[in-house]
Amino acid sequence: MTTGPAGYLSGLFSLEGRTALVTGGSSGIGRAVAGALARAGARVVVLARKEAELAATVAALTADGCEAGWVSADLSTREGIGAGAEAAAAVFGEPDILVNSAGINLRPPLGELGEEVWDTTMTVNLEAPFLLGQRFGPGMAERGHGRIIHITSQQAHRAFVQSGAYGVSKGALESLARSQAEAWSPYGVTVNTLVPGFVMTPLNQRLSSDPEKVAALAARTLTGRNGLAEDFAGAAVLLAGPASASITGHSLFVDGGFSVH
Ligand SMILES: NC(=O)c1ccc[n+]([C@@H]2O[C@H](COP(=O)([O-])OP(=O)(O)OC[C@H]3O[C@@H](n4cnc5c(N)ncnc54)[C@H](OP(=O)(O)O)[C@@H]3O)[C@@H](O)[C@H]2O)c1
Repeated sequence: MTTGPAGYLSGLFSLEGRTALVTGGSSGIGRAVAGALARAGARVVVLARKEAELAATVAALTADGCEAGWVSADLSTREGIGAGAEAAAAVFGEPDILVNSAGINLRPPLGELGEEVWDTTMTVNLEAPFLLGQRFGPGMAERGHGRIIHITSQQAHRAFVQSGAYGVSKGALESLARSQAEAWSPYGVTVNTLVPGFVMTPLNQRLSSDPEKVAALAARTLTGRNGLAEDFAGAAVLLAGPASASITGHSLFVDGGFSVH
């Protein structure tokens, strides 16, 4: 039984006793989400390629009293995805929460977009979330509880600054969320997407180093500013926790109103 505001809030949002895997958890939005889930009580495994960034992320979380571990894996090949999944499950056990934030943003003009860019984009942005879902979704369903969160993009909904293969991968990722929700939500697994606007992270270094473009993008929002990785903390805790038991197959825009302006 819960007592007082703290107990009430923990009943809605606490992730105590849960294990989370956050791909791309060493940078940008993924790092902010991993921090939020860990501070809400989950044991968190962050997965990416670069060991130094992974170790620094985990060190910062551990210093804050959180339980965290890391796995270095390359999600641009099926072998890498499979090995990464097994290594991640070996850290704290099978995850109850899967966040797919790892993503790449290669957007040459469509006429120049070759098969290599197409293949790599689809593997990291779409196939990894699919294969990690295949690996962990059925177990979540069997245990009667799970949360899957994908990070998509404005390009899942509209063509914009050379959407190219990236937009296709993100559009498909939103469809994947609905397919996964259809398959596993009857068994307590919810599957949703967070849709960023323009967020200042290493992913879009080229764009974010152009002050005019940054200002123009901020002007397209209703809040008057571009996104910050920390903007995703509350939404991620909601979609990872008990309060979202009845939210599934949903795309939640965390974009300062970019998409409705
Ligand atoms: N920033 C934005 O404006 C924005 C807008 C819309 C959507 N998004 C989406 O939000 C998500 C996070 O983006 P972000 O801006 O936070 O990007 P970020 O700061 O560049 O972080 C990307 C993360 O993915 C990991 N990663 C990239 N390729 C990988 C691979 N082959 N294998 C394993 N890990 C890999 C990176 O680590 P390593 O390099 O060490 O592997 C890093 O941890 C992405 O899915 C992105 O498409 C971002």
